[in-house]
Amino acid sequence: MNLALYSPNNGYYRSNAIVIGRQGDFITAPEMSDLFGYSLARQCKQVLNKSSCILEFGAGNGVLATQIIFELARLNSLPKKYYILELSAKLKQQQYDTISKVLPELVDIVEWLSELPKSFSGVVIANEVLDAMPAKRLMFSDGRFFELGVDYKDGQFQWSLFDEPFSGSIKIPTVNFIEGYKTEINLQALAWIESLYEAMSDGLVLLVDYGMNRVEYLHPQRSEGTLRCYYNHKASDDPFENIGKQDITTSVNFSDIADRACDAGFEILGYCNQAMFLLSLGIEDYLLQEQDVAKRIQLAQQIKQLILPSAMGESFKVLALSKKQTVKLDGFREQDLTGKL
Ligand SMILES: C[S@@+](CC[C@H](N)C(=O)[O-])C[C@H]1O[C@@H](n2cnc3c(N)ncnc32)[C@H](O)[C@@H]1O
Repeated sequence: MNLALYSPNNGYYRSNAIVIGRQGDFITAPEMSDLFGYSLARQCKQVLNKSSCILEFGAGNGVLATQIIFELARLNSLPKKYYILELSAKLKQQQYDTISKVLPELVDIVEWLSELPKSFSGVVIANEVLDAMPAKRLMFSDGRFFELGVDYKDGQFQWSLFDEPFSGSIKIPTVNFIEGYKTEINLQALAWIESLYEAMSDGLVLLVDYGMNRVEYLHPQRSEGTLRCYYNHKASDDPFENIGKQDITTSVNFSDIADRACDAGFEILGYCNQAMFLLSLGIEDYLLQEQDVAKRIQLAQQIKQLILPSAMGESFKVLALSKKQTVKLDGFREQDLTGKL
């Protein structure tokens, strides 16, 4: 997964093809509607002060950054700096192009980082970043989990079970897994949470992604795990086709992330689904304020995509972490499922 997505010359996120958006392989929430970024901006406004900054990870083609900066400028609450940490040189260029085209007068507040900052203070945002971090695939066999590696035999890639049981610690609910049950564990995402804590002096972290708590993640019926591939808006579960040309992702086990975050020192400020987060932040206000009927209909359609359970509303979750900052966040006014993590 690491090589297929990130190898310098042929990795999916390093290639020159358009990956995100209607012409790419998948659409993210900011691509769906500006109201997603505007709502996130409202959440940022609640905690930002004059000296704090925003740091966005994996900023895609820069649409979310543009929405947040635009709305914060409108609300007279711009951060001191909007940092972006992006691994792909091609996406960095796309981000610069998008932001400077829409907001030429504000592009100067954006600064691209190549590594984690030393003592960041402000709001960290990662939308659909954890799911893109390379995960390990595990299979239950003979009462234990084994890692599934990738082998190359007879001219093709195939899954191959490690001889020794998986040595990493996996937190599992008390369920009986069937022989051959598959799941994923994202050790890289867990290590990332730890290094994020170290990189921050204080502030808030907003993680938005598709995923669920541990009980749902390791549900007996989810016997094939959560690994999915996206190519040209079509989903498949075969990572061995279109290598370097298709996205490979796994859903986020938010209980794992929350546990590691707490071990590192973070406090959990809230966990809920995307629909409730956006509604708590008043996404429908934008609809009510729109006078133009045609535009209103368009916005209503976009809101539906973001909040309906059949679209992104329930499968996407928001987890908020804080370091040395205790505040009741507006985004969790309607729902807080922290107790279910
Ligand atoms: C699915 S895209 C998300 C795009 C964007 N956030 C959006 O909402 O449209 C995943 C992004 O995460 C980035 N990424 C993955 N691991 C990362 C890491 N450790 N640090 C920063 N970015 C990372 C990838 O390079 C890619 O740009």
